[in-house]
This record gives sequence, C-alpha cells and structure tokens, in this order.
Amino acid sequence: SDPELVARATAAKAKLGDRVFVLGHHYQRDEVIQFADVTGDSFKLAREAAARPDAEYIVFCGVHFMAESADILTGDAQKVVLPDLAAGCSMADMAALSQVEAAWEVLADAGVVESTVPVTYMNSSADIKGFVGRNGGVVCTSSNAKRALTWAYEQGQRVLFLPDQHLGRNTAVLEMGFDLDDCVLYDPHKPNGGLTAQQLRDAKMILWRGHCSVHGRFTLDSVNEVRSRVPGVNVLVHPECRHEVVTAADRVGSTEYIIKTIEAAPAGSAWAIGTELNLVRRLALAHPDKEIMFLDRAVCYCSTMNRIDLPHLVWALEELAAGRVVNQITVDPATAHHARVALDQMLALP
Ligand code: 13P
Ligand code: SF4
Repeated sequence: SDPELVARATAAKAKLGDRVFVLGHHYQRDEVIQFADVTGDSFKLAREAAARPDAEYIVFCGVHFMAESADILTGDAQKVVLPDLAAGCSMADMAALSQVEAAWEVLADAGVVESTVPVTYMNSSADIKGFVGRNGGVVCTSSNAKRALTWAYEQGQRVLFLPDQHLGRNTAVLEMGFDLDDCVLYDPHKPNGGLTAQQLRDAKMILWRGHCSVHGRFTLDSVNEVRSRVPGVNVLVHPECRHEVVTAADRVGSTEYIIKTIEAAPAGSAWAIGTELNLVRRLALAHPDKEIMFLDRAVCYCSTMNRIDLPHLVWALEELAAGRVVNQITVDPATAHHARVALDQMLALP
C-alpha cells in the first residue's frame, strides 16, 4: 500500500490514541486490515464493539449492517463511523421492512403467525432486526446459526428465517436434522410469497428468498473440478454457499471457523476455500507450508466490502483527529431498542 497513506493513517491513529478503536472484518483489504485493532467475523466484531465503552469512536471497517449493529450495541456517547457510506451488502438489501411486514400478514392469514418465530441473520438492516425483536425472535450469525435456530424452533413450531436462504437451509438440513421438504422458500416478489396457506402450515422453516452474491457463485462444478485437479484436497466453505456446494464440501463454517481450521491443519495439506478472496489470499500468504487455493477462480471480491480502502480510512481517521465526525452511522432509538432485544437474545444464547 502507498507509504504516504500508511504514514498518514499511522499518524492520525496515534493522535487519536485510545479514543479510537478500529474493527476489521476478515473480508477487508490487507491495506485496511493492517490498521485494525481487532479482526473478526461479524459475531466477534459485534461483541468487540460492545466491549469498548471507553472508545469515543468505533471505526468500522466492514459493511453498513455491521456498523448499525455496533451503534445499537454501544452506548450513546460512542460514535460509530463507516469510512465509505456506499459499503452496503446486496444480501441485506434483499429484505426490506415493508416486504417482511407484508410476509407477516401472509403468515397471519394462514393462521401460523403465533406459532412462527422470526430469526434474522446479522446481514440485515437494523429495521429488520427491530421487526424480529418486536416479534419475539433472535439475530444470528454464521457462527451461532444452529444455536439460534434451535432456540427459535423450540419457542414455536416453525421459523421465518431472513434474509439468507442458504444459511437457513444449510443449518436446518445439515445441522438440525430437518428434511429439505421441511423448508419452503418465501419469494417477496410473488403474491403470498408464492406459497399456499397449507405449505406455510406444513413448513418447519420458511426461508426468505435472499442470498449472497459472492458466495452464491460457487457451484457444484467448482467442487468437482478442484477435487479432480488436486487429489486429496479438503474443501472448506462458508454456509452462505448453495446447499449442493455445502453438501459436497468437507467442512463448513464462518470466517472465524475457516481461519481456525487452516491454522490447525497439518503442513502439506491442501485446502480449497469457498469464501471471499481477500481472506483466502491472506490465509495462503500466512500458511506457505500448506497448499491453499480459491475454490473457484471465477469468483471475486465482495465489491462493497472492498469499498473501504486505505484512502477512505485515512480520510475518516484524519477527520476524527481534527475533531470532525464524518460518516457516522446512527439507528433511530425506537428501532435500536427492538433490534437490541433481538441482539441481546443472540448474545444470551446458551
Ligand atoms: P461471517 O463474518 O459471519 O462469517 O459472515 C460473512 C459475511 O458474509 C459477512 O458479510
Ligand atoms: Fe454481503 Fe456477501 Fe458481501 Fe458478506 S460477502 S457483505 S453477505 S455481499
């Protein structure tokens, strides 16, 4: 990375001292990650934000929904800054509050709303987390999806899972022992979600039709191709991948799990990893004694994660050091209150 920008970021961070705390998601660029006080998956970063009451500024190097969650979990005196406001998430954008409220009406008409518990993946807007909190549900991340979905299912007789159909289906079928037929797909662009009242009543898991545009591009062909090219290769994927990809893989887990798995792997072992490219490249560089490759070369970076680059980080840090708060992410108090209920329920899961 540009030495002048590195020097400017270092100087601004030193000037701010303990007043600033920089969080970096594992999908961030190397040039940004080098300035993170803590790196992690979205679950770890949510907890880290909540555990820093003394830092006046939390600079969140990640995407918008993560910064919103940090604002919800931190005190009023703390300001959460997202270095580029255009760093959104295409998956989070697939569930709007008005669509979810309309779906809840459809469930009410089918007579199943009282027996359905809503669960939302962390990758959703604060509005959606607020909806879930108001309706007795819970937030989950990829590292606690099984616990959250099991808890929710035990509270009712079925779960409405937002917005990632793949994480929902993979967790239900591969970790909770549900059949594929126990899951139905609710399409917000179709009347009644494209489902009959009877289908809703019979379902254990109502999956929202959303997905990650990065992980959705890995295919069964990617897995078959790497297995034929590299005998003995271990396939390790994120649960946002399609069901057939996860089923064909050897291991599945969150970004934090992927890192721990590679750290524990024996020297000489070969790994094809199905997740975002910045993380896979860093793992390959950090473990030259292991053969680490990308599961499919046609898949690329998460473009919105990549919007946070060193120039944006330098700008945000220098503005903060000059006493100007830029790109602050705030969630309105009523939404934050209900979203907090759903996030606290997640943090309290057994
Ligand atoms: P985790 O950090 O929970 O593994 O999620 C990956 C992701 O896609 C974040 O946007
Ligand atoms: Fe969203 Fe996928 Fe990017 Fe994560 S990797 S921020 S889920 S688009």
